[in-house]
Amino acid sequence: MNQVFLNPIIVAIDKNSENEAYELSKELRGHIGAIKLGLEYFDTYGPEGIIKIQNLDIPIFLDLKIHDIPQTVKKTINTLSSLKPAILNVHALGGKKMMKCALEAISQSSPETNLIAVTILTSLDNDDLSMMGIDISVKNLVSNLAKLAKETGLSGVVCSSEEIQMVRESCGKNFKIIVPGIRPKGSDKDDQKRVMTPKEAIILGADHLVIGRPITDSKDPKNTVIEIVNSIK
Ligand code: C5P
Repeated sequence: MNQVFLNPIIVAIDKNSENEAYELSKELRGHIGAIKLGLEYFDTYGPEGIIKIQNLDIPIFLDLKIHDIPQTVKKTINTLSSLKPAILNVHALGGKKMMKCALEAISQSSPETNLIAVTILTSLDNDDLSMMGIDISVKNLVSNLAKLAKETGLSGVVCSSEEIQMVRESCGKNFKIIVPGIRPKGSDKDDQKRVMTPKEAIILGADHLVIGRPITDSKDPKNTVIEIVNSIK
C-alpha cells in the first residue's frame, strides 16, 4: 500500500447514524489501520460524511464496489478522487479495460489511493455462478480475477479467507489481500458463514482484516481492538 497503516485492522462501520460512526471512529483512532465506509453510509451522508471522519486523521477505505462501463467508471473515479481515500474498490468482473480505466483515473487524480478489486462476493457460491451460465468454480474464478487485477496493475484484492493462500501463491507477496468474515475467538459469527480468526488469516497471508460487528457491537470497542491487535502480534 502507498499509505502507511498503523496495523492490519480495518473497522467496517455499517452504522446508519453519522454521529455514531463519527463517535466510534474518534474512539478508535490511533488503534486501527483504517475505517471502512460503504454505500449505505455514502448514499446517506455523501462526500461530507466521508470528509468528517477523514478529518479525524484516519485512513478511509471507501467500499463502493464500482462496476460499470469503462468511461463511466473513469468519470465516477475522477469525481470521487477529491476525497483521496486510502483505499477504493471496483469489481474485477467489470473486466480488464474497466480496471485499467479506473487505475488511470485514480493514478492521475489521487495517486496515493490504493485501487483494489473485489473478486467474487462471498454471498455467491458455485450454484449461483452456474445459474448465470458461468461454468467455473468460485475458487478458479477468484484466482483468474485476482491474476487479472494484478496484471492490470491494481494494488490488491478483497477475497474470502478460504482464498488467501491461493491468491498469495498466484499473485506474489507485494499484492495486497484484504479479507472480511473475520471473527476473534469466541465471538458471534452473525450472518457470516465461513469465518476465520484474525491470527489464522494473518498466518495464511492476509494484509488487512475487515472486521465489523465484533468491534462495533462490543461494549468496549477500543478494548476489543486492542485485544485483536495483541492476538496477531
Ligand atoms: O460485521 P462483519 O465483520 O461481518 O462485517 C464485515 C464487513 O465486510 C461488512 O461491511 C460487509 O459488508 C463486508 N464484506 C463481507 N464479505 C464480503 C465483502 C464485504 O462481509 N465478501
